[in-house]
Amino acid sequence: MQVSAAPQNRWGRNWVFILAVAGSTIGLGNVWKFPHLVSENGGGAFLIVYLLCVVLLGAPMMMAELALGRAAHASPIQAIRFAAQENGASKHWALIAITSLLTGFLVFAFYSVVSSWVLAYFFASAAGGLEEAGSQSLEASFAALLYDPLALLIWHSAFVVLVAGVLFKGVRGLDHSIRVLMPALLVLIVFYLIILSFYGNWRAGVEYLRVIDFSTISLSSVITALSHAFFTLSLGLGVLLAYGRYLPDKTDIGQSVMLILLIDAVVGVAFGVLVFGFIEADMVSSSRGPGLLFVSLPFSFDTIGAGNWLAAGFFLMVTIAVWTSTVALLEPLVQATEDTMNCSRRTAVTLVSLMVWAVGVFALLSFNVMESWRIAGMTVFDLLDFVSAKILLPVTALLLVVFVGWQLKPAFLQQALATKPWLFHVWRWLIRFFVPVLLMLIVSSSLNSRF
Ligand code: PHE
Repeated sequence: MQVSAAPQNRWGRNWVFILAVAGSTIGLGNVWKFPHLVSENGGGAFLIVYLLCVVLLGAPMMMAELALGRAAHASPIQAIRFAAQENGASKHWALIAITSLLTGFLVFAFYSVVSSWVLAYFFASAAGGLEEAGSQSLEASFAALLYDPLALLIWHSAFVVLVAGVLFKGVRGLDHSIRVLMPALLVLIVFYLIILSFYGNWRAGVEYLRVIDFSTISLSSVITALSHAFFTLSLGLGVLLAYGRYLPDKTDIGQSVMLILLIDAVVGVAFGVLVFGFIEADMVSSSRGPGLLFVSLPFSFDTIGAGNWLAAGFFLMVTIAVWTSTVALLEPLVQATEDTMNCSRRTAVTLVSLMVWAVGVFALLSFNVMESWRIAGMTVFDLLDFVSAKILLPVTALLLVVFVGWQLKPAFLQQALATKPWLFHVWRWLIRFFVPVLLMLIVSSSLNSRF
């Protein structure tokens, strides 16, 4: 069942692979969710809990998904089928791949809509459109964008075209884009840290992490940290299966994952420092999500002077972050379409892009024309978020770890991971016992919070 072992179907360099996965992990989760969560949940104490979740849940799951993708060198559905076949398990386990692709599809629909706002703000600020806008008018212009279906449609379409453009040429195109985009992202982050030390409040940026208050850590903050680790590490959506497919057989997956997690954590903290350094702390906790990015940040750049340029650079940085995340989200769907329909890469990219574009249109209309449409009390946008990120995602992941931990043979896994024996044993123990329990916690808390 192994497919296309040709070297042109592999990442050109291991560091490109590492940056590609890091690129999928660094996104809105780091930019607007993480700083808010930290400030709400005990500062540095939450960071410590979060890092534990990353090591104990994120690392083992990431290793498992990459290993499965590489073992088969095939698309996510075929990869699970291959592992099941090699280990004498039922071929129905391939269902995991199908639910993860479906989840990725739904996540893309709402994620790409927000990403297109970022793109719109990049162009608006570069064109000088945010000049001398006070916080009130910034709020008004953001609301105006959300109420303008035509503008949203144009930006949404533009963003989907950008994503499709990277995917068109397969792993070669991906590889080449990552070589440019990720270094640019990292340089921009460093640049903004330097700007912060001159014009912002560097102290406030670092201070939020220095407050280590364990008294605010409760079971619910642990679950919050777990779910966040889950989403930000792009787990359970077939992304890592799809990227693992292009990995050469000898690469030590354990070692690569450590590096990826390190990059993601450092960038996460850097974004936190930037957000708290540029924005007053009480505004961070009150204006979470969109308000933080589209109102508070441009406002504080405005007060420094050179508001448009600083805002443009910042939105460029976030555009790159969401671009590399959404490309990763679509790759598994493209691979699966290519395989199941037996069509060319180009046809698969076009088909998948058109489908996600169409669902995205419903999500963006839920801010205006379809605002009053509610299903179970939620708009289409909120429903997509809830069903995909809160329900399907953890359930799929739970099935995946049960499959890997309890259905696959150690010899198969050891070869698939190609990592050090001690790491393999720790990993296997975590994936069999620890990770499933954590995932059950996430699933039951999501269900409780809603029903
Ligand atoms: N990890 C990305 C973020 O933190 C989101 C994402 C999830 C991207 C799943 C790809 C796959 O924003």
